[in-house]
Amino acid sequence: MVNRTVKVLGVLGSPRAGGNTDRLLEAALDGAREAGAEAEKVSLARLEVRPCTSCDGCRDGVRCVLEDDMSDLYGKLEDADVIILASPVYFDAVSAQTKAFIDRTQLFWYRKYVLKMAGRKRRGAFISVAARVRTDFACPEATARAFFHTLDAMPCRTLAFSGFEEAGSIEDHPTALGEARDLGRALAGERNCI
Ligand SMILES: Cc1cc2nc3c(=O)[nH]c(=O)nc-3n(C[C@H](O)[C@H](O)[C@H](O)COP(=O)(O)O)c2cc1C
Repeated sequence: MVNRTVKVLGVLGSPRAGGNTDRLLEAALDGAREAGAEAEKVSLARLEVRPCTSCDGCRDGVRCVLEDDMSDLYGKLEDADVIILASPVYFDAVSAQTKAFIDRTQLFWYRKYVLKMAGRKRRGAFISVAARVRTDFACPEATARAFFHTLDAMPCRTLAFSGFEEAGSIEDHPTALGEARDLGRALAGERNCI
Protein backbone atom coordinates (compact mmCIF):
# COMPACT_ATOMS: atom_id res chain seq x y z
CA MET A 1 0.00 0.00 0.00
CA VAL A 2 1.35 3.43 -0.93
CA ASN A 3 1.17 6.01 1.86
CA ARG A 4 -0.31 9.19 0.52
CA THR A 5 1.05 12.55 1.59
CA VAL A 6 -0.98 14.01 4.46
CA LYS A 7 -3.00 16.97 3.24
CA VAL A 8 -3.48 19.82 5.68
CA LEU A 9 -6.02 22.55 5.02
CA GLY A 10 -5.69 25.77 7.00
CA VAL A 11 -8.78 27.96 6.99
CA LEU A 12 -8.12 31.56 7.97
CA GLY A 13 -11.15 33.40 9.32
CA SER A 14 -9.42 36.69 10.07
CA PRO A 15 -9.63 39.51 7.56
CA ARG A 16 -6.27 40.84 8.83
CA ALA A 17 -3.61 39.36 6.56
CA GLY A 18 -0.45 39.00 8.63
CA GLY A 19 -2.46 39.48 11.83
CA ASN A 20 -2.27 37.34 14.94
CA THR A 21 -4.48 34.48 13.77
CA ASP A 22 -2.75 34.42 10.40
CA ARG A 23 0.71 34.23 11.99
CA LEU A 24 -0.32 31.36 14.23
CA LEU A 25 -1.93 29.50 11.35
CA GLU A 26 1.15 30.02 9.16
CA ALA A 27 3.35 28.65 11.96
CA ALA A 28 1.10 25.58 12.27
CA LEU A 29 1.21 25.02 8.51
CA ASP A 30 5.00 25.38 8.54
CA GLY A 31 5.14 22.73 11.27
CA ALA A 32 2.94 20.43 9.17
CA ARG A 33 5.24 20.91 6.16
CA GLU A 34 8.24 20.09 8.34
CA ALA A 35 6.51 16.81 9.14
CA GLY A 36 6.21 16.08 5.42
CA ALA A 37 2.63 17.17 4.87
CA GLU A 38 1.23 19.16 1.98
CA ALA A 39 -0.26 22.26 3.55
CA GLU A 40 -2.53 24.86 2.00
CA LYS A 41 -4.07 28.01 3.46
CA VAL A 42 -7.34 29.51 2.32
CA SER A 43 -8.19 33.01 3.43
CA LEU A 44 -11.94 33.37 3.75
CA ALA A 45 -11.84 37.17 3.62
CA ARG A 46 -10.49 36.96 0.08
CA LEU A 47 -13.27 34.65 -1.04
CA GLU A 48 -16.97 34.98 -1.56
CA VAL A 49 -18.68 32.69 0.94
CA ARG A 50 -22.31 33.71 1.26
CA PRO A 51 -24.32 32.82 4.37
CA CYS A 52 -26.42 29.64 4.39
CA THR A 53 -30.03 30.42 3.45
CA SER A 54 -31.46 27.28 5.11
CA CYS A 55 -33.08 26.29 1.80
CA ASP A 56 -32.42 22.59 2.52
CA GLY A 57 -31.12 22.20 -1.03
CA CYS A 58 -28.17 20.19 0.32
CA ARG A 59 -30.33 17.61 2.11
CA ASP A 60 -29.50 15.03 -0.55
CA GLY A 61 -25.85 15.40 0.48
CA VAL A 62 -24.77 16.21 -3.06
CA ARG A 63 -24.25 19.94 -3.34
CA CYS A 64 -25.10 23.39 -2.05
CA VAL A 65 -27.30 25.40 -4.41
CA LEU A 66 -25.38 28.63 -3.79
CA GLU A 67 -22.69 29.22 -6.36
CA ASP A 68 -19.67 31.01 -4.94
CA ASP A 69 -16.15 30.16 -3.75
CA MET A 70 -17.49 27.58 -1.33
CA SER A 71 -17.93 25.23 -4.31
CA ASP A 72 -14.14 24.96 -4.49
CA LEU A 73 -13.79 24.70 -0.70
CA TYR A 74 -16.08 21.66 -0.52
CA GLY A 75 -13.55 19.72 -2.60
CA LYS A 76 -10.66 20.88 -0.43
CA LEU A 77 -12.53 19.87 2.74
CA GLU A 78 -13.34 16.44 1.33
CA ASP A 79 -9.71 15.92 0.44
CA ALA A 80 -8.14 17.12 3.71
CA ASP A 81 -6.65 14.73 6.27
CA VAL A 82 -6.19 17.59 8.72
CA ILE A 83 -8.25 20.75 9.03
CA ILE A 84 -6.96 23.70 11.03
CA LEU A 85 -9.60 26.35 11.59
CA ALA A 86 -8.26 29.72 12.72
CA SER A 87 -10.43 32.61 13.83
CA PRO A 88 -10.02 35.73 15.95
CA VAL A 89 -12.61 36.29 18.68
CA TYR A 90 -15.25 38.80 17.62
CA PHE A 91 -17.88 39.65 20.23
CA ASP A 92 -16.98 36.46 22.10
CA ALA A 93 -17.64 34.35 18.99
CA VAL A 94 -15.84 33.35 15.80
CA SER A 95 -15.58 36.00 13.07
CA ALA A 96 -18.44 36.42 10.59
CA GLN A 97 -16.26 35.04 7.81
CA THR A 98 -15.60 31.90 9.85
CA LYS A 99 -19.25 31.46 10.82
CA ALA A 100 -20.49 31.83 7.24
CA PHE A 101 -18.00 29.16 6.19
CA ILE A 102 -19.03 26.81 9.02
CA ASP A 103 -22.73 27.22 8.27
CA ARG A 104 -22.12 26.32 4.64
CA THR A 105 -20.80 22.92 5.77
CA GLN A 106 -24.44 22.02 6.45
CA LEU A 107 -23.97 19.79 3.40
CA PHE A 108 -21.63 17.62 5.49
CA TRP A 109 -24.08 17.75 8.40
CA TYR A 110 -26.79 16.20 6.21
CA ARG A 111 -24.35 13.56 4.98
CA LYS A 112 -23.30 12.55 8.47
CA TYR A 113 -26.36 12.97 10.67
CA VAL A 114 -29.30 12.44 8.29
CA LEU A 115 -27.99 10.32 5.43
CA LYS A 116 -25.61 8.41 7.74
CA MET A 117 -22.91 8.47 5.09
CA ALA A 118 -19.45 7.45 6.26
CA GLY A 119 -17.03 10.33 5.71
CA ARG A 120 -13.26 10.44 5.77
CA LYS A 121 -11.84 10.42 9.30
CA ARG A 122 -9.49 13.31 9.86
CA ARG A 123 -7.86 15.37 12.53
CA GLY A 124 -8.66 18.95 13.41
CA ALA A 125 -7.53 21.87 15.50
CA PHE A 126 -8.88 25.28 16.34
CA ILE A 127 -6.63 28.31 16.67
CA SER A 128 -7.94 31.54 18.15
CA VAL A 129 -6.79 34.92 19.42
CA ALA A 130 -8.58 37.52 21.53
CA ALA A 131 -7.67 40.95 22.84
CA ARG A 132 -9.34 40.78 26.24
CA VAL A 133 -7.07 39.05 28.72
CA ARG A 134 -9.86 37.19 30.55
CA THR A 135 -11.46 35.69 27.42
CA ASP A 136 -12.45 32.05 28.06
CA PHE A 137 -13.03 31.07 24.38
CA ALA A 138 -16.06 28.93 25.38
CA CYS A 139 -18.34 30.24 22.65
CA PRO A 140 -15.95 30.11 19.66
CA GLU A 141 -14.63 26.77 20.84
CA ALA A 142 -18.14 25.26 21.02
CA THR A 143 -18.84 26.43 17.47
CA ALA A 144 -15.52 25.04 16.25
CA ARG A 145 -16.20 21.72 18.00
CA ALA A 146 -19.59 21.39 16.25
CA PHE A 147 -17.84 22.03 12.93
CA PHE A 148 -15.13 19.44 13.63
CA HIS A 149 -17.64 16.80 14.67
CA THR A 150 -19.62 17.40 11.50
CA LEU A 151 -16.50 17.03 9.37
CA ASP A 152 -15.37 13.93 11.32
CA ALA A 153 -12.25 15.85 12.27
CA MET A 154 -11.34 14.90 15.78
CA PRO A 155 -10.81 18.20 17.61
CA CYS A 156 -7.62 17.11 19.25
CA ARG A 157 -6.61 20.55 20.44
CA THR A 158 -7.54 24.19 20.76
CA LEU A 159 -4.69 26.66 20.75
CA ALA A 160 -5.94 30.00 22.02
CA PHE A 161 -4.23 33.15 23.22
CA SER A 162 -5.79 36.17 24.90
CA GLY A 163 -4.39 39.64 25.45
CA PHE A 164 -3.30 40.33 21.87
CA GLU A 165 -5.01 43.18 20.06
CA GLU A 166 -2.59 44.79 17.61
CA ALA A 167 -1.86 42.93 14.41
CA GLY A 168 1.32 40.93 14.89
CA SER A 169 1.49 41.42 18.67
CA ILE A 170 1.31 37.63 19.09
CA GLU A 171 5.03 37.75 18.23
CA ASP A 172 5.54 39.13 21.76
CA HIS A 173 4.30 35.87 23.29
CA PRO A 174 7.31 33.75 24.28
CA THR A 175 5.95 30.39 23.08
CA ALA A 176 2.83 30.94 20.95
CA LEU A 177 4.34 30.54 17.50
CA GLY A 178 6.42 27.58 18.63
CA GLU A 179 3.30 25.95 20.09
CA ALA A 180 1.48 26.48 16.80
CA ARG A 181 4.37 24.96 14.88
CA ASP A 182 4.40 21.95 17.24
CA LEU A 183 0.65 21.56 16.80
CA GLY A 184 0.94 21.50 13.01
CA ARG A 185 3.79 19.01 13.19
CA ALA A 186 1.84 16.72 15.56
CA LEU A 187 -1.34 16.86 13.47
CA ALA A 188 0.52 16.05 10.29
CA GLY A 189 2.46 13.24 11.95
CA GLU A 190 -0.69 11.19 12.65
CA ARG A 191 0.08 11.11 16.33
CA ASN A 192 -2.76 11.27 18.79
CA CYS A 193 -2.22 14.73 20.23
CA ILE A 194 -5.01 14.96 22.80
C1 LIG B 1 -15.31 43.29 15.27
C2 LIG B 1 -14.33 42.90 16.33
C3 LIG B 1 -14.81 42.32 17.49
C4 LIG B 1 -13.93 41.92 18.49
N1 LIG B 1 -14.43 41.33 19.61
C5 LIG B 1 -13.60 40.91 20.58
C6 LIG B 1 -14.11 40.26 21.75
O1 LIG B 1 -15.30 40.03 21.92
N2 LIG B 1 -13.21 39.88 22.71
C7 LIG B 1 -11.87 40.10 22.56
O2 LIG B 1 -11.12 39.73 23.46
N3 LIG B 1 -11.35 40.70 21.45
C8 LIG B 1 -12.18 41.10 20.46
N4 LIG B 1 -11.68 41.69 19.33
C9 LIG B 1 -10.22 41.84 19.17
C10 LIG B 1 -9.57 40.73 18.35
O3 LIG B 1 -9.99 39.44 18.75
C11 LIG B 1 -8.04 40.80 18.48
O4 LIG B 1 -7.59 42.07 18.06
C12 LIG B 1 -7.33 39.71 17.72
O5 LIG B 1 -5.94 39.78 18.01
C13 LIG B 1 -7.52 39.88 16.23
O6 LIG B 1 -6.84 38.85 15.55
P1 LIG B 1 -6.24 39.07 14.09
O7 LIG B 1 -4.99 39.90 14.24
O8 LIG B 1 -5.96 37.73 13.61
O9 LIG B 1 -7.27 39.75 13.27
C14 LIG B 1 -12.53 42.12 18.32
C15 LIG B 1 -12.06 42.73 17.14
C16 LIG B 1 -12.93 43.10 16.17
C17 LIG B 1 -12.41 43.73 14.89
